Amino acid sequence: MKKINLLNFEREIKEKIKKAQSLKELDEIFKEAFGKDGKIKKISKIIPTLPKEKRKIVGQQFGKVKEALIQVFNAKAEELRAKAEKETEEKEWIDVTIPPPKPLVGHYHPLTLVRRKIEEIFQSMGFEVVEGPEIEDEWHNFDALNIPPDHPARDVLSLGKTFYLKGGGIMRSHTSSVQIRYMEKTHPPLRIIVPGRVFRLDAIDASHEIDFWQLEGLMVGKDISVANFKAIIEEFLKRFFEKEIKIRLRPSYFPFTEPSFEVDISCVLCNGKGCQVCKNSGWLECAGAGMVHPQVYKNCGLDPRDWQGFAFGFGINRLAMLKYKILDIRLFNSGDLRFLSQF
Ligand code: DAH
Repeated sequence: MKKINLLNFEREIKEKIKKAQSLKELDEIFKEAFGKDGKIKKISKIIPTLPKEKRKIVGQQFGKVKEALIQVFNAKAEELRAKAEKETEEKEWIDVTIPPPKPLVGHYHPLTLVRRKIEEIFQSMGFEVVEGPEIEDEWHNFDALNIPPDHPARDVLSLGKTFYLKGGGIMRSHTSSVQIRYMEKTHPPLRIIVPGRVFRLDAIDASHEIDFWQLEGLMVGKDISVANFKAIIEEFLKRFFEKEIKIRLRPSYFPFTEPSFEVDISCVLCNGKGCQVCKNSGWLECAGAGMVHPQVYKNCGLDPRDWQGFAFGFGINRLAMLKYKILDIRLFNSGDLRFLSQF
């Protein structure tokens, strides 16, 4: 005959229940006691084998133990459920007062930012912002600017690098064409800037693009001189780079200006001390410029004896690169948000 120690069994299970940390653990203990192969099942199989007198007493005792255990199980389950609920509440607490994440808002391309800054500065000095067509004819892009078809300057000004269109016309290779378009229609005195997109069939690298932006400038009056040019450019650069910038004019050649010069600025990165960007010279080549050539006035129907003025051409991408310390011109047209979202 097997021995049954109901009291021991009850104590043992109660002890386990007491120690249970989770509902899952409690469930395991419950199965161990009441499950298919559980101890309760085993005991209930033993009871009928007991001698008659014992059977009744043990049976009653057994019933009581079962009931008691179920009660303890239920109480513990209730306790653990409350505990779990409280934990979830603490973990998954939502602060409804936190503002929602801001929606992504579009912003300006660095070239747009720079263009706007340039326009603001020149407008404050009385310059009008003017536009011209990106698809040009050879007259405005070359001939009227004193660049005849067989002139070597067509190389200088990238004739071989000009995009010719099937139906006639070209993609403008510089914004100087707008000088002509404007003076054909508007009598001096005048002050204009022309920020515009230009196109050149170049090999693309860190400093060359086929599609970039230029800033043309033109100021014509009765006695506009190189001194005026220097003053205006110095003021523009100071306000654009937000610091004092020195400039230097070097003799150069453009068919539409006489005299012509190259404008160098003191390096904005090292302030003229010498660095990698200025190749230790302290200077950066920044623009082409000059006094408007008499032939250009003639080509616009103006009498060169009446008028005198200067013209200049900056690369807007280059200005942006210097302002924001961008080392590769290709980034502007890359559409790369990692780049763009920094502005
Ligand atoms: N159009 C020239 C170029 O694309 C730049 C230039 C030089 C513009 C001298 C000017 C100027 O107005 O006077 O290389």
